[in-house]
Amino acid sequence: ILMAKADMDTLQLACIQVAIALLLLTQAKSTTEDTSALHPNGTITSCIAGERSALLAFRAGLSDPGNILSSWKGDDCCRWKGVYCSNRTGHVVKLDLGGPDHYGGCDEGRQMLAGNISSSLLGLQHLRYLDLHCNGFDKIQIPEFIGSLHQLRYLDLSSLLFIGKIPPQLGNLSNLQYLNLDNSYICPFCTYSKDITWLSRLTSLEQLDMTYVNLSTIVHWVPVVNMLPTLKVLRLPFCELGSSPDSLLLSNLTSLETLDLSENNFHKSSRPNWFWDVSSLKHLNISANDFYGLFPDEIGNMTSIVELGLSNNNFVGMIPSSMKNLCNLELLGFPFNNINGSIQELFNRLPSCSQNKLQWLDASNCSLTGSLPTTPVDSIINLSHLQLRNNRLGGHVPVWLGELTNLAMLDLSSNNLDGVMHEGHFSRLEKLYTLDLSDNSIAITVSPTWVPPFSLREIYLRSCQLGPKFPVWLRWQKQVRALDISNTSINDMVPDWLWFAASSAGFLNLRDNQIKGVLPSTMEFMHAQEMDFSSNQLGGPIPKLPLNLIGLDLSRNNIVGPLPSDFGAPWLETLVLYDNMISGGIPSSLCKLRSLQLLDLSGNNLNGSITDCVVNESGTDMTSLSIINLSFRNNSLSGEFPSLLQKCPQLIFLDLGLNQFSGALPAWIGEKLLSLSFLRLRSNMFYGHIPVKLTKLVNLQYLDLAYNNISGSIPRSIGNCTGMRQARGNSDNLRYALNTFFQLGENKLVDYTENLTVLMKGQERLYTGEIIYMVNLDLSCNSLTGEIPEEISTLIELKNLNLSWNSFNGKIPENVGALMQVESLDLSHNDLSGEIPSSLSALTSLSRLNLSYNNLKGKIPAGNQLQTLEDPTSIYIGNPGLCGPPLSQNCSSKPEQIPGEYHGVAIDDVVSFFLALGSGFVMGLWVVFCTFLFKRRWRAAWYSLCDSLYDWVYVQVAVTWTSLRGKNNG
Ligand SMILES: *[C@@H]1O[C@H](CO)[C@@H](O)[C@H](O)[C@H]1NC(C)=O
Ligand SMILES: *[C@@H]1O[C@H](CO)[C@@H](O)[C@H](O)[C@H]1NC(C)=O
Ligand SMILES: *[C@@H]1O[C@H](CO)[C@@H](O)[C@H](O)[C@H]1NC(C)=O
Repeated sequence: ILMAKADMDTLQLACIQVAIALLLLTQAKSTTEDTSALHPNGTITSCIAGERSALLAFRAGLSDPGNILSSWKGDDCCRWKGVYCSNRTGHVVKLDLGGPDHYGGCDEGRQMLAGNISSSLLGLQHLRYLDLHCNGFDKIQIPEFIGSLHQLRYLDLSSLLFIGKIPPQLGNLSNLQYLNLDNSYICPFCTYSKDITWLSRLTSLEQLDMTYVNLSTIVHWVPVVNMLPTLKVLRLPFCELGSSPDSLLLSNLTSLETLDLSENNFHKSSRPNWFWDVSSLKHLNISANDFYGLFPDEIGNMTSIVELGLSNNNFVGMIPSSMKNLCNLELLGFPFNNINGSIQELFNRLPSCSQNKLQWLDASNCSLTGSLPTTPVDSIINLSHLQLRNNRLGGHVPVWLGELTNLAMLDLSSNNLDGVMHEGHFSRLEKLYTLDLSDNSIAITVSPTWVPPFSLREIYLRSCQLGPKFPVWLRWQKQVRALDISNTSINDMVPDWLWFAASSAGFLNLRDNQIKGVLPSTMEFMHAQEMDFSSNQLGGPIPKLPLNLIGLDLSRNNIVGPLPSDFGAPWLETLVLYDNMISGGIPSSLCKLRSLQLLDLSGNNLNGSITDCVVNESGTDMTSLSIINLSFRNNSLSGEFPSLLQKCPQLIFLDLGLNQFSGALPAWIGEKLLSLSFLRLRSNMFYGHIPVKLTKLVNLQYLDLAYNNISGSIPRSIGNCTGMRQARGNSDNLRYALNTFFQLGENKLVDYTENLTVLMKGQERLYTGEIIYMVNLDLSCNSLTGEIPEEISTLIELKNLNLSWNSFNGKIPENVGALMQVESLDLSHNDLSGEIPSSLSALTSLSRLNLSYNNLKGKIPAGNQLQTLEDPTSIYIGNPGLCGPPLSQNCSSKPEQIPGEYHGVAIDDVVSFFLALGSGFVMGLWVVFCTFLFKRRWRAAWYSLCDSLYDWVYVQVAVTWTSLRGKNNG
């Protein structure tokens, strides 16, 4: 400019020069002023004082046990962790304090921020990005003031402990593009909204996630989201939504690509539905909504669709043939619907495009029929993931499956597939990761020298035919995480290499085979968390266990030797060793298993008394154990009722039956074992009274003291046992205590159901998981005396009441008919007198009744169930005072009697009966009476004999009397 104005006079020139100089000077000055905030690369990052104090006030409201905000000191708040300032203005624009993520949830093990969210955040008015997810803030409502942070573009409040109403003030955030209120991980359904019209004001919104926010009262939610024309991602799973309109007349949702409406309650016909018409959709998930009707043809119009999730609905019939057009489809899942059609037809309707993209197909639990096609199908040739479990597929597995080179997961479990699979079926499955063929009749027959092309991580072959030789190909599977070869007809020695090949497996199931050999001494170097070797022929002692082991089932083997003095698995929760030949005492090493919840040592040769474990290694008193379910049944253990159990406050199930325990029942059972629900002490030598405190156990629903020498009377407070008055078999606690399942994927690992025999209805009955529904009071074969307390008739959930073979006297409780659930009632062999209460005929569930051998008199009540019981006379036998049907005695006058006869009892039995009777007199009468209960035929013999004797005497008397009268009359 200056050169162009060369003709200007010098004054003008000077003026301009001065002006320019001044201008430059000011610029220079302002630059110098900002230099303090300049980083070498020339950006401004120093923080603004007001915002710094806002951040400090925000921090003051928090507690920070993990010291996450340790960098929040010094002047420059822009360098603090999680704080980001604008390069241009210096304002704090981003606060990223999201907690640690872990597989889509929050990693609770790691430290989080807690405390309160201070409204001082309002000092950050330029905030565009706020992420607080996965922290442990106090349970509060989402603060309303967040709606005043008008610049916010991004707001992530997911997985926090927010509760209550979502503030409609959030609708003021008109710049918001991303809003995440997902509650799923930390506090499902803790927040709600009863009116979501505020959402419609978020006109810039692109992504919305309200997973697990309770929106159950909202009917017209679709018109609201339809006001958001820029919406791309909408996630509303688990929102209790109940309505979904058939169509949107004018759809604004032209950008919508992802729609997740899974796990709501729409319960409506599959069509029409508005979302089938949203042609921009790439990802649609409507799983678990109870949609019913045919798979809609409209699916074929969704040409952009990439992922389609339709599982857990009631779609019926074949998928529409229009799906052939879905050339972008990569993932298709519709398990748990009812296709009820042929698998070949299904394959023919899958997309068949020039370039086949389908990678993932899950058609499990769909009632698919027919057999897999014998020639390759184009539509599935690129699959990496094929799940067809739990259908009705039959026939052979075709060899061409071995050509699916991308296949990583093949699940054909729980079908009716049969035939042989050989090397060819796996020839090119180099990428195979998971193979699940469980529960078919498939035989896998390969050469012992075969080296598979794959290195599997998960192998599930339960109930396939692999044996009788141990499958050698497993030797090459060295990265296995889960191996299930249970019930595979293996009848062989366990090979040494197994313990190396499977050493990295977390889950190992070999149960139900005939595997022989011993557990290796190197077992402690394995990585298993769960091992199930039950029902085999493994011998030898129990070695030191893998460090990480949580569950071990060795039941029904030939394990010998003592229990280890060091289990080596400090986190063990389940230890199931029943039906082996383990001998020796109960070692104190058991007391070190502080996490142990289930211990079943029943059916072994253990002896001695149970150690006290009062003192641990360091000599200090130990705290309590975690045990919930404990069974020592059927060993030779002795000593008093184990005082160790005082340290087991969580005990729910205790079985000491069939041992030689003796002494009195301690009163502390009722004080220390407050969760106890099942107590089985049958067949021991306990004596003394039933402690009154035992009736403090409100959860007690199963009390079996039979075959001991308990004396005294039944405490009247027995009525306090709420567990016998209220059904609680469904309680999760009980389920957990008695059925401990470890699961890896859907494959059961240690499937332990308490096997318990209950002597009921006169025969041994094996209760498995059903035991939790059993309500039982069995005091039979003791020396109890006194009256049966009337309170017993308040225990209305009782299914079995057995007080037989005692010395109870007095009357049968008048209100016994209140025990409506009772299936078996045995009061026989006591000294009960008086009449049978007529309420007895109200017992409609009754299938076994025994009142024999008492002193009951009067008329037998009639009606209902009593009429249908088997062998009616034996119920009342041995009560000479009873009369009326089913007995032949008439209540008004004595009728004629026909002498009884021996009811087909073999002479052997009569002889052994008399032998038993003889020894019985020596041993004490009750012993033989109990023997009778063991031996049904003896018992029958005894009854018949007594019948016959009685009848014979009666007839003799009657005949003599008649003849005397006849003589007199004559
Ligand atoms: C500027 O410098 C700061 C601090 O040295 C650094 O953290 C930042 O990444 C730099 N920015 C650019 C754009 O290089
Ligand atoms: C601010 O700096 C960051 C890096 O520190 C850079 O990525 C970003 O593009 C910069 N923003 C502007 C507006 O210059
Ligand atoms: C579409 O969105 C705009 C802007 O939010 C709104 O005004 C209009 O009512 C919407 N249309 C329908 C049919 O809801």
